[in-house]
Amino acid sequence: MKKMLQELREVSVNAILQAQDAEALESLRVKYLGKKGELTKILKQMGKLSAEERPAMGQLANQVRAELEEAIDTRRKALSDLMMERRLKAETLDVTMPGEHNEIGHKHPMYVVLDEIKEIFIGMGFEILEGPEIEKADYNFTKLNTDEGHPAREWSDTFYLTEDSSILLRTQTSPIQVRAMETKPLPIRMVAPGRVYRKDEVDATHSPMFHQIEGMVIDKGVTMADLKGTLNTVVKKLYGEDTVTRFRPHHFPFTEPSCEMDVQCHKCGGKGCPTCKGEGWIEILGAGMVHPKVLEGCGIDTNVYSGWAFGMGLERLAMRRFKISDLRLIFENDVRFLQQF
Ligand code: PHE
Repeated sequence: MKKMLQELREVSVNAILQAQDAEALESLRVKYLGKKGELTKILKQMGKLSAEERPAMGQLANQVRAELEEAIDTRRKALSDLMMERRLKAETLDVTMPGEHNEIGHKHPMYVVLDEIKEIFIGMGFEILEGPEIEKADYNFTKLNTDEGHPAREWSDTFYLTEDSSILLRTQTSPIQVRAMETKPLPIRMVAPGRVYRKDEVDATHSPMFHQIEGMVIDKGVTMADLKGTLNTVVKKLYGEDTVTRFRPHHFPFTEPSCEMDVQCHKCGGKGCPTCKGEGWIEILGAGMVHPKVLEGCGIDTNVYSGWAFGMGLERLAMRRFKISDLRLIFENDVRFLQQF
């Protein structure tokens, strides 16, 4: 029996110290020290020994158990160190390697200008609205006091989506005026940016799709002076305090009186140059007092309420703001262009 214990000690300690991972070590522990393990098997034979032999054998068995336990402990620690070492090696970070370069985009220059304009109007108590790009002719024309025979209604000018000319791609953001008046409680202070569509040939200043920003105020006692004051404030905030503006009479079916607003050419200071086509001024928007027929069509009492509205071209504002000479650059989205802003 003594020999068996000594053999067990030799074989098992060797095996334990060579276990390759925690799992192998655990199955060795069960094999040698478990309830049905080899040590137990040997101890079961103690009964065959004489009373004199037993204490010494018991002592030896305990010693062997202690040695095995210690060997397992030692190996466990060594394995855990080894695992850590392997992990560290596998996860090493070479800080001298060139980093991965992530391209982070930025806002399109036109949207930079749009956000600035929105901020200015929000600061003056306006809300931002939206309307559908596919619009009823009713909203795009009829409710805006634009007669059946009006040239803007021609199929050669407008993208119609139905044979009966009742559905179209909106040619202006003005239908949002009507949508707001029909659904919102008064007073209204709103701006509404969005895409509009016209059958224009593409050149340096035209595109069949472009962007407008509509604005409208409906309240008691609103006058043309409010319109001029508000638009002057906005343009100065956008282009600088020293910006010079002028208002010219004009005609729109849905405003009366109507006007256009010009800003003095930033290039020549009003003398006339290629940028302003010799005019000295650049037109930036159409505006006017909302026509009583439009107000009444939306159920608004013109004895109590009046209002003004404007519509401006967003590309044109962005082009002036960033000194962009060709409208097409705004839509082509050539990164070499976009990176400059
Ligand atoms: N919708 C007009 C246009 O596209 C601009 C405008 C808007 C004029 C609001 C007056 C009032 O030209």
